Amino acid sequence: MAEQLGTLEELPQDYRDAMTEAGVAPLWPMMRNVLPHGKPNPTTRPGYWNYENLRPLLHRAGELTPVEKAERRVLVLSDPGRGAGAMQATASIYLGMQLLLPGETAPAHVHTPSAVRIIVEGKGGFTVVDGERLPMEEGDLVLTPGGDWHDHGHDGTEPVVWLDALDLPLFYYLEGSYATEGPLQAQRNRPDAGQVEYLSSGLVPSRKLGAGARKYPMVRYPWTRTEAALREVVKYSDDGIAELDYVNPETGADVLPTMGFTAVMIPAGVKSAPPLQSSSAAFHVVKGRGKTTIDGQVFEWGPKDTFTAPVFAEITHEASEESFLVRVHDRPLQEKLGYYEERAR
Ligand SMILES: [Fe+2]
Repeated sequence: MAEQLGTLEELPQDYRDAMTEAGVAPLWPMMRNVLPHGKPNPTTRPGYWNYENLRPLLHRAGELTPVEKAERRVLVLSDPGRGAGAMQATASIYLGMQLLLPGETAPAHVHTPSAVRIIVEGKGGFTVVDGERLPMEEGDLVLTPGGDWHDHGHDGTEPVVWLDALDLPLFYYLEGSYATEGPLQAQRNRPDAGQVEYLSSGLVPSRKLGAGARKYPMVRYPWTRTEAALREVVKYSDDGIAELDYVNPETGADVLPTMGFTAVMIPAGVKSAPPLQSSSAAFHVVKGRGKTTIDGQVFEWGPKDTFTAPVFAEITHEASEESFLVRVHDRPLQEKLGYYEERAR
């Protein structure tokens, strides 16, 4: 394979003008941009957002912009490789920090992209998904899958903040992103049904003939259960850390078609150096402190901070305190497309 392909400048101006006139362009000067050798050449750069910095900005948004004027009062975490204002944190993952004040509601709506909330702080917030009212407690993972109606409310007394993760960039790229709004949902009489029906792993509700499971049978994954499970798993870990994937309890598959979520426990003093992965990732610190090196850049993190890594990044985590992270990634999408890959460092 030739290392250097022909450039645009090598072509005579009259030929270049004629191509522009005809609405075509030569592939060869641009081919290495879209098909680099060996591995992708990501635009995404590692990102880091300190929650102590974001918090006052979010609260100021609460004073400056009433929720009716914002609909969703969110500060978007923009990929440094694309610059502030970019509606994405990696190629496939959108991240936003959302504030809801006591008494506020977010209008009921449905959209084509899927969203997940990771609750960052505050008590009394709730999300209604497909008629099911779900409490939002710190560290909980709450799904609002694409096509499911949802709205948010707040019965508490303190501001509630959560991190939104969406597959929005993908839907936007496909020109498939849109939303529909409607009246607040009637809440069904069995709130948080997933926590009743799937109380114990390995047990699912027995169904009458022909009664199928819901496509998304569990939409809230309480942090207390996740942390308890990680603490058990870590006792038997070969590499000193514990990792648990969030899955659909009926199918065992990832919770959403495009995005995956993995809870990670890194005990104090433990270092984790995973293989290079073709997926991009965002890490949210539920608790703990440590530092992560991503492609040579060092990020010192604490509780509620968020950081991101591009595809095939070399990532090394070191926890100085017992730490719990949630990793958001696009492995489910890449597996469906048939190219998810891990490489030795
Ligand atoms: Fe939404």
